[in-house]
Amino acid sequence: MSAMAVADELAGTEDEREALARVREATGESDGPMERHGVRCFLIAERLAADRGREIDREVLLIASLLHDLGLYEEVAEGDAYVTDGRHYAERMLSDRPGWDGERLRLLGDAIERHHELRSQWDAGAEVELLRLADRVELAGGLIRCGIPREWLRDLGERVPRDGTYGEIARMVAHALRERPLTMAKIFVRGKGK
Ligand SMILES: [Fe+2]
Repeated sequence: MSAMAVADELAGTEDEREALARVREATGESDGPMERHGVRCFLIAERLAADRGREIDREVLLIASLLHDLGLYEEVAEGDAYVTDGRHYAERMLSDRPGWDGERLRLLGDAIERHHELRSQWDAGAEVELLRLADRVELAGGLIRCGIPREWLRDLGERVPRDGTYGEIARMVAHALRERPLTMAKIFVRGKGK
């Protein structure tokens, strides 16, 4: 099964499909490296939740996973920290839609904005912490697994290939560093904690 089919298969609700469409619009491609990064983050986060017996709001987790790095792209960037721009983009997308009360929007926003925090985010909600952990597992290339078996991650890579992911993220982060170095410094300084 192709990765595009996986993303399309996962995105079942109207809002999930809208989030996927926005990823494709901002990145200019379907089944691209950033789309697949989001899909893998979601599947890893879902697995981490199951391992820990955590209930999750699946729609919040899927939409946050798909949109979490979108602030790196021109169409979404507003000049603030990219994780903050990503949060605001998601909030604008959903705030008028049914089912998105203040608490769900807060949860979604925190999951996007706090995905680079170095400290545990369970207090902000399971979805927030699970996406943070999933992104670390995803970018650590097997060095951080949070208890997930190596074989499971290998199977995930076959189902949703990693091709191009590191290159795309490195390219977009380098672009953001050139365009808005101060906001990038803010993310990493805040990430280091006080
Ligand atoms: Fe990410």
